[in-house]
Amino acid sequence: MVYQVYPRSFQDSDGDGIGDLPGIEQRLDHLVALGVDVVWLSPVYRSPQDDNGYDISDYQDIDPMFGTLEDFDRLLTAAHDRGLRVVMDLVVNHSSDEHAWFRESRASRTDARRDWYWWRPAREGMEPGTPGAEPNNWRSFFGGPAWEYDEATGEYYLHLFSRKQPDLNWENPDVRRAVHDMMTWWLDRGVDGFRMDVINLISKVPGLPDGEVHYGAYGDGSPYYTSGPRVHEFLQEMHREVFAGRPEKLLTVGETPGVTIEDGVLFTDPERHEVDMVFQFEHVGIDHGSSKWDVKPLRLTDLKATFGRWQVGLAERGWNSLYWNNHDQPRIVSRFGDDGEHRVASAKALALLLHLHRGTPYVYQGEELGMTNAGFTSIDQYQDIESLGHFHELVDAGVATEEQMLVALRAMSRDNARTPVQWDASEHAGFTTGTPWLAVNPNHVTINAEAERADDGSVFHFYRRLVALRHDVPVVALGDFHMLAPDHEAVYAFTRTLDLPAPAEGPDGVASAASTASRDELLVLVNVGGAEQEVPPEVLAGWEGAEVLIATHDDAAARRAGVLRAWEGVVLRRS
Ligand code: NOJ
Repeated sequence: MVYQVYPRSFQDSDGDGIGDLPGIEQRLDHLVALGVDVVWLSPVYRSPQDDNGYDISDYQDIDPMFGTLEDFDRLLTAAHDRGLRVVMDLVVNHSSDEHAWFRESRASRTDARRDWYWWRPAREGMEPGTPGAEPNNWRSFFGGPAWEYDEATGEYYLHLFSRKQPDLNWENPDVRRAVHDMMTWWLDRGVDGFRMDVINLISKVPGLPDGEVHYGAYGDGSPYYTSGPRVHEFLQEMHREVFAGRPEKLLTVGETPGVTIEDGVLFTDPERHEVDMVFQFEHVGIDHGSSKWDVKPLRLTDLKATFGRWQVGLAERGWNSLYWNNHDQPRIVSRFGDDGEHRVASAKALALLLHLHRGTPYVYQGEELGMTNAGFTSIDQYQDIESLGHFHELVDAGVATEEQMLVALRAMSRDNARTPVQWDASEHAGFTTGTPWLAVNPNHVTINAEAERADDGSVFHFYRRLVALRHDVPVVALGDFHMLAPDHEAVYAFTRTLDLPAPAEGPDGVASAASTASRDELLVLVNVGGAEQEVPPEVLAGWEGAEVLIATHDDAAARRAGVLRAWEGVVLRRS
């Protein structure tokens, strides 16, 4: 299991209200208790923090807010001593505009690094710097145009994210070489791999054509930069230059918004030497319309359809990553679960549903506690650049009212995931002795790690058991997946099946009677809702008398077969 730490919100050690590297070190034992294998650190590099560290001004240094390179080395050693591996966030679709590379690039049109970024003149016939004169009509991910006019040199630079995140030009081999060298430097320092930020956006269609306009003034450029023409070539080159031949066991995962299953297979087929796995976005796109602010209720059949297709699509070649949460997504218990009456049961049920799929599970800090959305009610409480950018763009353009946007942000804002981890019931939840950079959720008095570690029935202990099962029971990690009852709107059901090889022959060369191959099978049943549900009889046929491997409710084994209570999940096993 990979556990994501968002350092800013994990643990503060020096009272400045912002989490830091020594703070992470103080809390490593929590991760060990959970059974974590790998820790993914969101960016801790030197950064102006325009996008909380996803805007990097020096790839080979630590931001003073988080500590020093010595703190980093100490954390790495402390993690390794506990058997934890550490994966860095690699943010190389763009740098910060304060990176030395960009400062040089913007210095003049003839600078040797000019071509390291995407510079273009104004649209033909338009006055540079005037509205609509951008080289194309692409909208940035954070609202507004994807181009910034640079008066000094009279050209625009491309930024798919904020204007402080200029896109690097991967067409230039010197850019690629510089990135490879930097990655090698970190691997030599002892890190165990990379989570690659929006890595499928690094290759753009030459010509940068206008995109379709769905709303407002800007167009959707994604068809021209999502999994673009040279992306596989770039990743294969990276693999050759950085990873090939290294003796250590490394982990690579590409964040790939808009990736299709076909491309997912190409990215993750081990024989192609690109990345180990990708984060796809389909299942976090089914509860809203074309914009994430157009929020819709979840239909369970949509979730089954998308998960089912990815499970089948990557069954033979490729590998899935499994996630509900990260620093960009609202909290799952508030999103697809019930963060009121059924918070504990629904957090467990959703965890069970996800962790019994085939793939590598990711847990985002606080998810293992069943932490909930932030519950902010005023725009002043938000700090996230995406939330603020879209709020102002949509309200100013008259696409939504302030009230509508506040409702949407309450459901979908990235800040929902970024409130500090709730360690205990004390003031500021044990996160800091200072003033937290983002408000601590008041519910930390009841939802916190200290209380959950002391309670065997907690969400924390349930996650711990799920992680242990994956380590100990091969069918959980490796078994084939088969979806059942795809049209049922409340019960999520599937099987996992693994044929176990026959034990080796005895020393006399004679196979023992027990040597015939056997089959291990699981039936996973989850009630995704607050009303009792009958499990369709055809799903249960043949499972009479099977043992309960794990369940959200303690007394599941004793219950009348075939009925699931509110948010009840159970895994049956027969072998
Ligand atoms: C994806 C990251 O997860 C997100 O937090 C960030 O804003 C963008 N990439 C830009 O780096």
